[in-house]
This record gives sequence, C-alpha cells and structure tokens, in this order.
Amino acid sequence: MTPQPDYVRIFDTTLRDGEQSPGATMTSAEKREVAVALARLGVDVIVAGFPAASPDDLAAVRMICERVGRESLPGRASPEPPIVCGLARAAKGDIDRAWEALRPAKHPRIHTFLATSEIHLKYKLRMTREEVLLRVGEMVAYARSRCEDVEFSPEDAGRSDPEFLYRVLDTAIRAGAMTLNIPDTVGYTTPDEFGALIAGILEHVPGARGVVISVHCHDDLGLATANSLAGIRAGARQAEVTVNGIGERAGNTSLEELVMALETRRAKFGLRTGVDTTQLVPTSRVVMTSTGIVVPPNKAIVGANAFAHESGIHQDGMLKHEETYEIMRPETVGANATELVLGKHSGRAALSARLRELGHELTPEGLDKLFARFKAVAERKKQLTVADLEALVHDEAPSEAEAFVLVGLQVACGTSGMPTATVRVASADGKERTHAAVGTGPVDAAFKAVDALVGGESRLLEFNVHSVTEGIDAIGQVSVRVEEPIDRELRSPTRDGVRERRIFSGHGADTDIVVASVKAYLKAKNRMLVASGAAEKECA
Ligand code: KIV
Ligand code: ZN
Repeated sequence: MTPQPDYVRIFDTTLRDGEQSPGATMTSAEKREVAVALARLGVDVIVAGFPAASPDDLAAVRMICERVGRESLPGRASPEPPIVCGLARAAKGDIDRAWEALRPAKHPRIHTFLATSEIHLKYKLRMTREEVLLRVGEMVAYARSRCEDVEFSPEDAGRSDPEFLYRVLDTAIRAGAMTLNIPDTVGYTTPDEFGALIAGILEHVPGARGVVISVHCHDDLGLATANSLAGIRAGARQAEVTVNGIGERAGNTSLEELVMALETRRAKFGLRTGVDTTQLVPTSRVVMTSTGIVVPPNKAIVGANAFAHESGIHQDGMLKHEETYEIMRPETVGANATELVLGKHSGRAALSARLRELGHELTPEGLDKLFARFKAVAERKKQLTVADLEALVHDEAPSEAEAFVLVGLQVACGTSGMPTATVRVASADGKERTHAAVGTGPVDAAFKAVDALVGGESRLLEFNVHSVTEGIDAIGQVSVRVEEPIDRELRSPTRDGVRERRIFSGHGADTDIVVASVKAYLKAKNRMLVASGAAEKECA
C-alpha cells in the first residue's frame, strides 16, 4: 500500500498498550468485542497483543486475526480488513510467536522493538550501541523473512541521542522495516521537541521518506495528543493511539482526541483519517465496559460532560446559535446514545434486528437470555436507548472466568438498624450457597457476603457507579477494581522478571445499583480466583 501524503493511518494499541493499564486485563470475549468495535470504527491497524507474553495472549491474537483480520466486517467503510499487528521484542523467539499468531490475518504485521536511550542500554539491556545496531539489523531482517510488513520501534526514542537514533533507524530501513515508530515511551518530551525529533529523522535518515514514520506518545505530562499532532505536522503519517487514552501509567495518546483534532481543524492540518467519527462514543463505551476503566466526565470528546452546557451564559448562547460554544456537533462523534430504540412491547425479532444493526451477533441462547433481561428492564424502564442496550449486552456477555454466578440478593438498609445483605451464589458445579452479612451500607454488606461465599482475599481499590442515561429509572453501571493481597502477590507470575501487581476489574449493569455492584464485584473476584488458581498450579 503506497502511503498517500494527506492520509494519517490510525494504529490502535488499546488491546496492547491499553491492556497494560493496571486492572484492564480483558477476557478473550471482551477482546473480541473491542476488536470488532475497532474494525467498524475504521482503524487501519489493530495491535492484537503481545503473543510471546503467554499462550493465552498468543491465542487471543490468533482469535482476533480470525474474527476481524480476514475480511472487512459489515459496517466498516473500507473494503479491506484492518492490518492485524503483534508485538515482539527483538528476539527470534518473540518474532516466531508473533508470526505463529498472526498467520490467519489477510494483512499481518510484526512490530518489533529495542530500546535506544542510554538509560535503557546501560541499566535494562546492558548492551553497547554497536550491539544494539547489530541486533536491530538481524531481528528486523528475521521478522521480514517471516512477514512482509514489519514495523520497528526504538523504545524510549524521546530520550535517545538523535545521532544514534538516526543510525538505528537507517539500519532498520536497510533490514526491511516499512514503518518506523518513534515512541516517547515515558511521556517526557514537549510538542516542539517531539516535532523537531520527527523533522530531524525525516531530514537525516536516508530512506526515511520512503517509509511511514509513526508517532507513539505517552501522557505522563498530559502532552501525548499535543506531541502526536506536532509529530504529524512534522511529517509522521501514522499515529499510535488508544481508545479513551488508556495505557501504562497516565496512558497513551487518545484516539478520539487525535482524530477529532485532525477532523475539526482540517483547514489547519490538511489531513484525513479513515475513522468513522460517529463510532467514537460507542467504541469508547465498549472499551470502558470491557476494561472496567471509567471515562472521566470531563474527558474530551467521549466524556459524559463533553457536550453539556451548564452555565446560564453558555446555555443562552447555545439557544441563540450552537456555534457560540460548540466546535463540533455531538452527533459527529456518536454522542446521541439517548436515541430511543425499543419499548416494553417490542418483540424478540425487533430486539434481534436492533442488536444486529448495532453490530452484535448473538447465539440463539444468548438472544433468549438477553430478551428475558430486556423484558424485565423494559417493565421498569418503559423505553430503552442504544446505550441501555449496549450496557445489557455487555452485562450478559459470557465470561470465561465464571467460577460463581449471582443467584439472588436481598438487602435491608435505611436510617435505623444495621445494613444487611443476603447473597446467594451458584458455583460452576451448580451448587448453591447463601450468606448474610452486615456492613456500613448495603454495598459493603453485600461485598462482605460475597467474600464469605467465594473466598479469596482481596482489597477493593475502586468502586464507580454511573447511570447509562439520564432519568430516575436509568440503568446503573458499576465498575470495581480489586487487588490481590501481598502474600498472594508473592506467588504471582512475573513478566521479564518483574513481579506484577495483579488487579482485576469487573463490571455490572442493572436498574438496581446494589445488584449491579454485586455483579461487578463477583466478576472481579471470579477473575482473581481463576487467575490465582492458574498461578497456584504453576507454583506446584
Ligand atoms: O511506549 C513504548 O515505547 C512502546 C513500544 C513497545 C512501542 O509501547
Ligand atoms: Zn507505549
């Protein structure tokens, strides 16, 4: 594919950098849901994961190739499926694993990387510059012997010596890399510096104008989007981004911010992307529910308040003319999820048709379950919106990690007496157990009852409730994040010799927020129990 000068490729790394956010680990069903949403959104490249990390990661990358990488899905503007990419360290084993996983894709890409900053060379890699140059040449050539499309990243490029960086990039081009990605791994640079870095690469690296230069920025100083745009202004034509800006530490450049900056300020940038901007808010919701990482209300483009006008002066201006305080229309980014879709008289066929329109293919059993749920909610809520439906679909999605399911919940709370919750769960073998507990409130009491029933010590790190739509009858969505206690952490697996802090998220939706809370908590606990069971087997 020849790069067009005014086209910026969108390389989505939500399933890799994004999944590295603490607690954002997704099940394979959730990864599939995110990949489908990304393909429909119109991204050019989906990074499906890091296949060498574990056999599960490899299987997830292969599953994504099969689901979205073979042909273009209905609803995707491009007739071609996205490129599916797998990350690999600059080592033969990693490259082999990546290729093994990526093979089913129509357009596979191997993305290999090696650090180039003095700090990384000295303390992490313990390699000399000459050794780095040799390894880059060998491993890019090795990846090219497997896969035609190879991307190379000099990790920590933002803090690397530019003269050395030019030599590394020249080596990668000569060895066959077609995309050179420039990461500001620790989010250290400022827009003028990052723009100058890209300009310097295009000026000093022979052959740089014949490949695609890509930007990959982290948000430690809140500059990721600004830095990415500066790199694009300087000539980069691929941006590596994540939905909702999730990622390690403060996250990565936010896909929606970058795309809407290029779109809204097209006269300034003169550039375009292949993204269907009306899918931005729906995709953001899929990622929020799949990762359990809640979008702050003031988040640009996709936050709940991004188009809300509160002050009297602003409201008055908006009534006179929308352009007084609005630089983009909410419908341009798909922020019109209050659109009513179905009511309590809608039948199974109408539900099934609407779900298909929204891109959800359910099995007949899945549809039966969802229909029963839909009827129960519609009895209480009368009319359901797109957002309500999406919340129910996610809540009912089968999870691979269901050691326990919620069977019943009863709470007593109020101004007198002790808040009490009685919880009934069923284990995988169908056995049911009940426990009652008291707490500081109904949620605390219910979580204590769940702990007593399912075991597995954990610490609640985060508890978020928000309503899917406005109104007193709205569905409440709850996200929780729990952490394993220290003694369990000591036995947890390591990645690159670094002990991982293990955080698990869960998500629940219901018109009753205590029910939604217990569902979310139970999901997080299930994930923790399944993961620690696996860890214990490994240790045995
Ligand atoms: O931030 C980074 O340097 C990365 C590389 C692996 C591209 O994520
Ligand atoms: Zn990164």
